[in-house]
Amino acid sequence: MNCFFYFKDKSRGREQRSAPELKEQRKSDYSGADRVSKSSCSASSPRGIPQLYEEKAHGLRVFSYSELRQATNDFNRLLKIGEGGFGNVYKGSIKPAEGKGDPIVVAIKKRNEDGLQGHKQWVAEVQFLGVVEHPNLVKLIGYCATDGRRGIQRLLVYEYMANKSLEDHLFNKARAALSWKTRLQIVLGAAQGLAYLHEGLEVQVIFRDFKTSNVLLDENFEPKLSDFGLAREGPMAGQSHVSTAVVGTYGYAAPDYIETGHLTTKSDVWSFGVVLFEILTGRRSLERNRPRAEQKLLEWVKQFPADSKKFSLIMDPRLENDYSSSAARKIAKLADNCLLKSAKDRPTMSQVVERLKQIIELSEDGNPSEKSLESFENDPVDSEKKRNQMGPSESWKRRMTQLSKLGEHVEGASRRRFMIMQRAQVP
Ligand SMILES: Nc1ncnc2c1ncn2[C@@H]1O[C@H](COP(=O)(O)OP(=O)(O)OP(=O)(O)O)[C@@H](O)[C@H]1O
Ligand SMILES: [Mg+2]
Repeated sequence: MNCFFYFKDKSRGREQRSAPELKEQRKSDYSGADRVSKSSCSASSPRGIPQLYEEKAHGLRVFSYSELRQATNDFNRLLKIGEGGFGNVYKGSIKPAEGKGDPIVVAIKKRNEDGLQGHKQWVAEVQFLGVVEHPNLVKLIGYCATDGRRGIQRLLVYEYMANKSLEDHLFNKARAALSWKTRLQIVLGAAQGLAYLHEGLEVQVIFRDFKTSNVLLDENFEPKLSDFGLAREGPMAGQSHVSTAVVGTYGYAAPDYIETGHLTTKSDVWSFGVVLFEILTGRRSLERNRPRAEQKLLEWVKQFPADSKKFSLIMDPRLENDYSSSAARKIAKLADNCLLKSAKDRPTMSQVVERLKQIIELSEDGNPSEKSLESFENDPVDSEKKRNQMGPSESWKRRMTQLSKLGEHVEGASRRRFMIMQRAQVP
């Protein structure tokens, strides 16, 4: 399933700016006619991301290359704050849109000429971030696309996230350790961001690259998901998955997705489960410098089940025992559920959000209804069945309340390498 992306203004004179457009696409990918919509979950001709982009993305600013060069003091190395598969990230300062007022601090991502991630990811990033709006998703301020004397330039301008990424804080020993409370706040926010993508929009969006470096942290350590270059629209109505080439990051991608190329929201749920174990242990999903039995996090933690006495041995020593043991066990059980072999048995992200809220409440008050929590923990599917037994009107009401909660947010607001892991044998 290939989509072809290129820039309309490519051949026009130098330093010309072009808006991200899709010139040619396979109809089956974006026709929208049979897409599953949030509101009806039936064929109701909702629009796809490119159509929504046309309608919504007018707020994005289009920058000239020289504006961004000026903003970063000619992409000064001292202003470089990060580096990924796409290219370097710089801290910069731009003028406000209206020209008046204080300069705005931003993060500017500049594509390397030989970057592993290309135009297609750049366009996807602009289009998805031009459409989505949620307090737990990073805000794209604008972009720059020039095809001129200096070659092809593709840049992205984001709100600046003062505390960089979750990866920095969790694994960089030079930084102060994240407290238990902050860890819980971060996983809840990240889960809310994913739940919004899966269930809170007119189209379903699968993020496909959930990992600690893509969870950015603002000045209050509130998390925001970044990097929509690999995001995909969910399946059409009546279809269970999208067939794709397998892309993502080793250590985070769901095994069923790697094996079949069948992408669903449950692929993101798997990656979320991996990050939950990273948050508990302070270890990366893959660490080659550890003894063999400890290199693969998911295999290692299996030896310390959440119900066992030895469970506490997996906990991050940097927490210095300052955490709720019972909440930690519940997080581990939730992670186990997210990592179930069969994708359909994994919880949905809104179930994960609900569960995390209960665990946080428990962590703070110590008096939730333990019984009701256990049933979900042990079998999310069984619990979904029980919900359905409440009768159509009850479960419908429940779903609508959940959706309207997600809707409120709409109003409001190396592993580092991106890699093609394997070409899936898709028909
Ligand atoms: N908006 C931002 N504000 C502040 N820092 C940022 C911002 N965006 C990215 N960064 C920093 O730049 C780093 C690199 O980000 P980038 O998304 O390019 O690569 P990555 O996520 O590490 O790897 P990959 O290419 O696999 O996604 C991040 O880990 C983060 O520290
Ligand atoms: Mg990233």
